[in-house]
Amino acid sequence: MMEKDFNLDDFGIYDGISETIVTTNKGWTPNAAPMGIIRKKDKLFIRLFKGSNTYENVLAEKKLVVNITHDPILFVLATFTDLNDSDFDTKAFDGISISSLKEAQCWIAFKCVNSKLTNEAFISELVPIRAHLNKCKIRAPNRGFCGVIEACIHATRYQLTEDEKYLKLIKAYGDIVEKCGGEAEKEAMKLIYEFL
Ligand SMILES: Cc1cc2nc3c(=O)[nH]c(=O)nc-3n(C[C@H](O)[C@H](O)[C@H](O)COP(=O)(O)O)c2cc1C
Repeated sequence: MMEKDFNLDDFGIYDGISETIVTTNKGWTPNAAPMGIIRKKDKLFIRLFKGSNTYENVLAEKKLVVNITHDPILFVLATFTDLNDSDFDTKAFDGISISSLKEAQCWIAFKCVNSKLTNEAFISELVPIRAHLNKCKIRAPNRGFCGVIEACIHATRYQLTEDEKYLKLIKAYGDIVEKCGGEAEKEAMKLIYEFL
């Protein structure tokens, strides 16, 4: 529908892996979880490991919404909890329900094409079907925000493996958050320690 004139740069998705919050639906019930979106030239891919709600939902509906946000607390809550229904905006387009995050600076809905299923994961190319720009905020890079993202990733690995090395890494990133983060990043880090 919008594939030809769609420019990924305009929606903040650049080469490499972008950390986003992916929203999906099980019927009308929305779900949110942090997921990396992989861009190689002008193609996008996602790798969803088996076992998450996102994996189940995308496997069933072959569509997902990528939300761009710099809200560190939202990243932590989406990793460890179910967000409130009031955090989502759900609309139907061409008979398909699309849930995005109200807080997102922008969102892009994708259909999954050329998908493949391995023993561990669902890997798919993503083709844009609809997008929305909410607000454009310029933000300088903040090591505290990056620290929260890294700590979240190590926290999910710790939950899977209970390997103590991840606790050390979380503590190291926590120290950076303490030094460089703002109030929101510090609060997000506090939540990570509580969820562990
Ligand atoms: C920054 C970040 C990026 C992540 N990227 C991925 C990813 O690309 N693929 C994946 O399967 N899980 C990824 N995860 C882990 C999921 O977010 C995590 O398993 C989550 O709890 C799944 O939630 P759900 O069951 O509601 O889908 C990532 C986690 C974080 C914090």
